[in-house]
Amino acid sequence: MPSTIILNIKELAGISDATSPLRGAELARINSIKNAYLVIEGEDIAGFGRMEDLDKSKIPSGQVNAHGKMVLPAWCDSHTHLVYAGSREGEFVDKIRGLTYAEIAAKGGGILNSASKLNETTEEQLFIETYNRLKDVMRMGTANIEIKSGYGLTLEGELKMLRVIKKLKERTRVTIRSTFLGAHAVPSLYSANREGYISLIIEQMIPAVAKEKLADYIDVFCEKGFFSVDETERICKAGMARGLKAKIHANQLSASGAVQSAVKLNALSVDHLEVMNDDAINALCGSKTIGTLLPTAAMFLRMPYPPARTLIDRGCAVALATDCNPGSSPGYNMNFVVSLACIGMKMLPEEAINAATFNGACALELQNQTGSIARGKKADLIITKNIPSLAYLPYSFSSNHIEQVMIKGELHYV
Ligand code: NIG
Ligand code: FE
Repeated sequence: MPSTIILNIKELAGISDATSPLRGAELARINSIKNAYLVIEGEDIAGFGRMEDLDKSKIPSGQVNAHGKMVLPAWCDSHTHLVYAGSREGEFVDKIRGLTYAEIAAKGGGILNSASKLNETTEEQLFIETYNRLKDVMRMGTANIEIKSGYGLTLEGELKMLRVIKKLKERTRVTIRSTFLGAHAVPSLYSANREGYISLIIEQMIPAVAKEKLADYIDVFCEKGFFSVDETERICKAGMARGLKAKIHANQLSASGAVQSAVKLNALSVDHLEVMNDDAINALCGSKTIGTLLPTAAMFLRMPYPPARTLIDRGCAVALATDCNPGSSPGYNMNFVVSLACIGMKMLPEEAINAATFNGACALELQNQTGSIARGKKADLIITKNIPSLAYLPYSFSSNHIEQVMIKGELHYV
């Protein structure tokens, strides 16, 4: 197995053998070694330590000199809608002129706009668009990602999206988890018969997705004008009966009761949480469900940021993700998400980095494989440029501080 060693690392950060999400004070701790080396064998981290303890007779021939640079775990982006066709900058301008996200959706824009674009795009074209986007995602330091369906809203359209995700899994080194989000919006064809669409999801889409093993998780956009709490529960239960754990869009635009219902369903995560009340906070903080915060979506829609400080201080497991999608967060820069978490939600740099790496891995059930520096884990790493400290990453928010990205042991130059 070919070996590589990264030498003279100014600081090797994110060393942890944790096996469950970091909460409370632990989220603010990042273990690191200054002046370190790290050995990679094949896809995996084989060892690491202080340069002064390195046995010079055993240095492998593949060497990377990281003098002045930091090494940390690559990002785990646990919530994206990376497969989409076209773009929606017209709605961006509508919002500047005063329309709300809900008003744009009500007049056929929003998710339905992306759905008609997607249904006019061939599977091959959709794959090429998304593959190119994913290459750029990798350059920005993300080695693990979740991707949802939800812009098909027909049996064929949803399967097309999930097949594109499957092909991405096969053709890239990124570890990808896929989520079935047929319940993203009620398509126009069913506007007078929403029950008909819910039956289509439960009776046809979910069985077809399960039969082709196209998804790992099930998601519902639980929100006024989209799917109610009762509908969310019915759809999630149908998915769970086929082995799909729930990850739910909850409390983005209103305190709908989605969080409480997701906790009841034992959801792996509840995502968004811009509009929280005491009941929702209490339910989440006493549960195992991870709260995934998407600060770039809140920024883009000019919504209040989720109450990250309260959630962390009350012991909730918090992850950070981009929500990359053409309507509410057209971006996949995890470094910027980490910055915005610090700037807009008062997370400490260490908390934000842990939430974007290890806790993100937990939100994809990948915590035993990636998300921290540990022997035997995948060598999914960011090698920074010459920067003074870890806090410099979120502080200097608009520059690219990444020099190289390693994904399962393979180096990618940025
Ligand atoms: O997570 N809220 C629902 N879904 C996406 C937005 C999708 C869209 O506008 O296309 C989100 O923000
Ligand atoms: Fe989303």
